[in-house]
Order: sequence, then structure tokens, then C-alpha cells
Amino acid sequence: MNKIEPRATGRASNVPKQDLRAWLAQMEAAGEVKHVSGAEREEEIGGIVDFHQRKIGNPAVLFDDIPGYPRGHRVLANILTSVKRINLTLGNPPDGSEMELVRYWRRYMKEAKSIPPVTLPTGAVLENVKEGNDIDLFKIPVPKWHEHDGGYYIGTGCMVVMRDPDSGWINYGAYRVQAHDKNVASVMCSKGKHGDMIQKKYHQRGQPCPIAVVCGMHPALFMIAGLEIPYGKNEYDVAGGLLGEPVEVIMGPKTGLPIPAHAEIAFEGFIHPNDLIDEGPLGEWTGYYAGGLKKEPAIRIETMMYRDNPILLGAIPGIPPDDDSFYRGTYRSGAVWNQLEAAGVPDVKGVWSHAAGGSRLWLTVAIKQMYAGHSKQAGLIASQCHAGAYVNRFVVVVDDDIDPADMDKVIWAMCTRFDPREGLETLRGCWSSALDPMAYAPDDPRNARVVIDACRPWSRRDTFPIEARPSKELDARIRAKWASVLPKGS
Ligand SMILES: Cc1cc2nc3c(=O)[nH]c(=O)nc-3n(C[C@H](O)[C@H](O)[C@H](O)COP(=O)(O)O)c2cc1C
Repeated sequence: MNKIEPRATGRASNVPKQDLRAWLAQMEAAGEVKHVSGAEREEEIGGIVDFHQRKIGNPAVLFDDIPGYPRGHRVLANILTSVKRINLTLGNPPDGSEMELVRYWRRYMKEAKSIPPVTLPTGAVLENVKEGNDIDLFKIPVPKWHEHDGGYYIGTGCMVVMRDPDSGWINYGAYRVQAHDKNVASVMCSKGKHGDMIQKKYHQRGQPCPIAVVCGMHPALFMIAGLEIPYGKNEYDVAGGLLGEPVEVIMGPKTGLPIPAHAEIAFEGFIHPNDLIDEGPLGEWTGYYAGGLKKEPAIRIETMMYRDNPILLGAIPGIPPDDDSFYRGTYRSGAVWNQLEAAGVPDVKGVWSHAAGGSRLWLTVAIKQMYAGHSKQAGLIASQCHAGAYVNRFVVVVDDDIDPADMDKVIWAMCTRFDPREGLETLRGCWSSALDPMAYAPDDPRNARVVIDACRPWSRRDTFPIEARPSKELDARIRAKWASVLPKGS
């Protein structure tokens, strides 16, 4: 078990790169931030974010001068919806391609170091500390993100921190957090998620569960919150490994839970046994409201902390692509690729989990066909391996001349190399979720899915028509001589 053992230090922070403001400065320098002044939080902030999320590659959006709030109380959203911003966040070359990013995650999963957090005596998040009647979540301009949402969600781009009462293991995850009242929030952890399991352990003993919610921090810390880090592994250690430096934390005054010292906004409190509250709905990552209004655990807040001029971080689920689906799709692609390899599928050349499928519903696998049946094997395993199985609908297998992240080429391969008589498998009774609008029934969250073999048929591999495109040699010659007339990025 990986217990948190923070090293106490007396030193003040040397302003590490894990500060959201350092990230913003980096993105500003790269021309990746749009500033919006004067949008209101009831409909306009969410509406503007939605426009930006409709296409991957749009800038992050920073809202200020929000009516009813002091200048400087800001909201930042659409953070990780570009390969460039993800690369910059991870310290990769900014112009790296989608598939280079997937390869980065593949290496990261195999080689990542754990770097434990370090505890500071104080931190910027403690610039404002409110207790008792002074607590007011609505001092922060929490938006209603979509018109049909049931309320105001302070926690979307967030980390929810809890401690296992048996082992002391610290878990943090991105679970949505609704602000209900000045000092009351709720948290929605799906069944089986680590946050749900930890709460249950306290409640089975009749004890309240301590909880801390962090709603503005460096996007690398957020990335780890949204990824399925194994049970018992401290996400702070993983985030430290990703950042290449220990995450600096302070201890929550009432719960003793570790909270990033440079966080913009955080609050802590307790979830009491059987203390449930109406929660939702919130537009979901599938693009629908399938979960509806339900009872979820209430958080009774005891301390609220925030920096001067705090920045609320939003990562808004909705009709994909969105923050949730794009960055997680790049990671999932690496995970599926590693699992195909571990299952003995040779010569996988690329995997892409398309953001428009919410990072789960669509997977493309590119292979260099080595033997008859290879493409079918790759598709069926991708559709059922651990990283690919949950809420999938389509797996498409293509030859290695197709970039799986280039949807034009994938569709071309499907249109010209797929034989529906042989190349289509329908799988029934698969692992899905009640959030899947095509799950069998509310009490039977299985689904059906297809695996499509869009590779050139093995038996025709030597006689298949040749493609009408320039050879690599001609491409190279044209690039060398005619670069100035070619489209950007050719
Ligand atoms: C923006 C965003 C919002 C999410 N919202 C929820 C949520 O409300 N409930 C939930 O159970 N999982 C949600 N997830 C997925 C979890 O964060 C993810 O499964 C994570 O691995 C959970 O942490 P755990 O593995 O420690 O349980 C969300 C992910 C992201 C990126």
C-alpha cells in the first residue's frame, strides 16, 4: 500500500511549475488563451465555452469581469482541448503529432516514476481562509454550464481528495461537485470508483468521511484526477512523476487531507452517513442527460480556502469533443495499444480513441497485417481489453498506411477496404454504463457493439488496386523544391 508520507519542509515554495498561473503564463506566451470580459455566469460563460469545445484546437478561455463579482475572480475552461496545450503541459515539443502524444503515454505507463508530495507550512491557497458563517461557495463565480443543468457545478476540472481509513492511502479523482448552498456541496462518484469505495468504508463504521475538493490547480494535477490510477496508488505520487517534481501540499486545517499549496480554490468538510441531497442533472460526456436527478452524498463544508483573485477551473462534459474526452482519449489510446501488445497482438502501428466518441465509444487500431486473421484478432481484443471495453461502440481496424487519428483517411479505408460480409462482427452483452443512451435498460447497463475490419482483405493483399497518390519519394522531392507553395504543416 502506498501511504502518503509527505516530507515536511520549513522552506517556502520556490514557485514551482505546478502553479496554474505559471501554466497560464506559458499558454499566453504560446498564444493559446482567449480573454473574455463581462460574460455572465447563468448562461453566457457555459454558452461561450460550448462554442470553443465544438472543435479541437480552439484556445483555452479565461473569463474576467463577471457581472456581480470583483474583477480578478476568474473562470478558466477549455484547457486541454489541443494537442499543443497537452504537449506543453507535459513538457513535450509543442508541435508533436497526435500519435507522438499517444507514444508518450505508452512510455509513461511503462516507465513513470513516483515522486511523493512534500508538505509546506503554508501556501498561496491559504491567502483567504473562511470558517463557519463566513463560508460562501458563491463568492466564486460558479457557472451553470449548460441550460438544462440542475444547478451550479463548482467541481468539473477538480480533484476530490480522500483518505482510506484502513491504510491511510490518499486517493484523488475528478468527480463532479455541485454547489448547493453557501456551505453545502455534493459529490457524485459512480459505483466502484475509488471515492465511492472510501466513503463506504467510513459509513460502514458509522463515521463521517473527510473530503477535500480542489477547484483550480495546474492541469497536470487535473489530468491525473481523471485517469484510472490503480487502487492503492497515491495520485499525488503519480502527479509528481508527471511533473518531475514533488507536488507541494498543505494539510487541510480540519481534515488533515493534503491540498495543493498553490491551488486557487479548495474546501474541506465531511460526508455524513445517509446524508444525501438532490443532485444533477449535469450534461454528461456522452452528450446527453442520461443520469438525471438523483440523491448523492452531501458535503458539509468546514473550511473554504482561496487565493486572492481566484481562478475556477472548468473541464466541462457535454456533446463531445470536450476536455474530458480529448485528453483522456490520447491516454486511452496508449493504454489500449499497450494492452494489445501485452495480449500478444504483433505489429500494432497506432491506436486512436476519437474525442467525438467521448474517448470511449470509438477506437481505431492501425496494424501491419502479418497473417490471415490478424486484423480480426486486433479488433476483437481492442474491443474487450480493460482499457477499451468500457462503453465502447465501434472498433475499426485499418492498415498501417492509414493514420488512425486522421478521420478522413479512416473513413476512406472503411468505404473502400471493408467487406460487410466478412469484416463485421456484432458483439452483444458487453460492459457499458447507464450513461450510455443505447445501453439495454436502466437496470441492465450492457450494450452491443461492432468491430469493423477495414484492412485490405488478406487474400487480396497482392492484387488489391494500388492507391492513386504520390510515392514517398515524389512527396519528398516536392517538399524539398516547393515547400513555399505547400499548405502549412505539409
Ligand atoms: C471532467 C471529468 C469529470 C468527471 N466526472 C465524474 C463524475 O462525476 N463521477 C465519476 O464517478 N467519475 C467522473 N469522471 C471520471 C473519473 O474522474 C475517473 O474515472 C477517475 O479515474 C476516477 O478516479 P478513481 O480512479 O480514483 O476512482 C470524470 C472525469 C473527468 C475528466
